[in-house]
Amino acid sequence: MLVNLKDISVKYSHDEDVLNKINLNIEKGEFIGIAGRSGSGKTTLLETIGGMRKPNSGHVFFYNEDIYQENYDTLNFRRKLQIVFQFPENLFFEQDIFSEAAYGLRMSNMQQNDIRSRVSVGLESVGFGKDDFQKSPFTLSGGQKRRLALACALVMQPEILLLDEPFSGLDTEGINLVSDILYREHKKGTTIILVSHNPNILSELCSRILIVSNHSIAFDGTPAQVYNNTDSLKKIGVMIPDVKIFSQLLGINHLENLTYEYFLKKTLQFISEK
Ligand SMILES: Nc1ncnc2c1ncn2[C@@H]1O[C@H](COP(=O)(O)OP(=O)(O)OP(=O)(O)O)[C@@H](O)[C@H]1O
Ligand SMILES: [Mg+2]
Repeated sequence: MLVNLKDISVKYSHDEDVLNKINLNIEKGEFIGIAGRSGSGKTTLLETIGGMRKPNSGHVFFYNEDIYQENYDTLNFRRKLQIVFQFPENLFFEQDIFSEAAYGLRMSNMQQNDIRSRVSVGLESVGFGKDDFQKSPFTLSGGQKRRLALACALVMQPEILLLDEPFSGLDTEGINLVSDILYREHKKGTTIILVSHNPNILSELCSRILIVSNHSIAFDGTPAQVYNNTDSLKKIGVMIPDVKIFSQLLGINHLENLTYEYFLKKTLQFISEK
């Protein structure tokens, strides 16, 4: 088991729990999407899994070791698990893009040449050219800052990548670029947990969807299984993928998955049978 949450509860003050007694298993190689209305606790859940927020009760295990126990090898954990935060721009501190992306590798005592090639590949994969490398991170647009934050995580070649709303503030080109990167990373074997409000992206990329509502995980299954609960999801403020809405309008009820490609095949089959 890669990650195991055992009865975790989290609260911020003396108020009620934001997350209440959550149990969750995550296997290596999964691509998990997390959705839920604003304020439901998605970021809190991601931060708890990522070692950033100690739960008030319960345990988070990474390879069967409690990540919040005393003497846990946090440095090793930080290398294997990378988080791209919802507002990553607040975390930049280096003078130029290249140094920002190289920071994590420098801390791990890697050879200069290896750092240089890994960082160049990482920055280019998120759409930066060599001319950009010396620019200040603070002069970048919101979308460019998000892509830089993703590169900072990717160069570490993590086993598990956690992303909090990585598409917000991106234009269509940026969304496609980041989606492609995540698709490829997953194919390489990286486990991914992706928080997003966009149900189309989630159902296209993810093999498993978690819906956070009412302090717990209200739904957990494949995109087809989870988004089949259309009425309940609408009631708790969760958006439904276009593919699901279109298929319901057409009267196609059984979909094995919710990717556009599969939907188009099903639709053509449906029309030809009419
Ligand atoms: N640092 C904090 N101090 C106090 N309360 C907080 C803090 N961070 C979050 N909360 C509260 O915890 C709840 C869950 O917040 P969280 O940010 O995890 O939700 P979210 O699902 O990520 O929301 P969004 O979709 O808007 O990003 C909210 O009620 C929020 O007000
Ligand atoms: Mg959030």
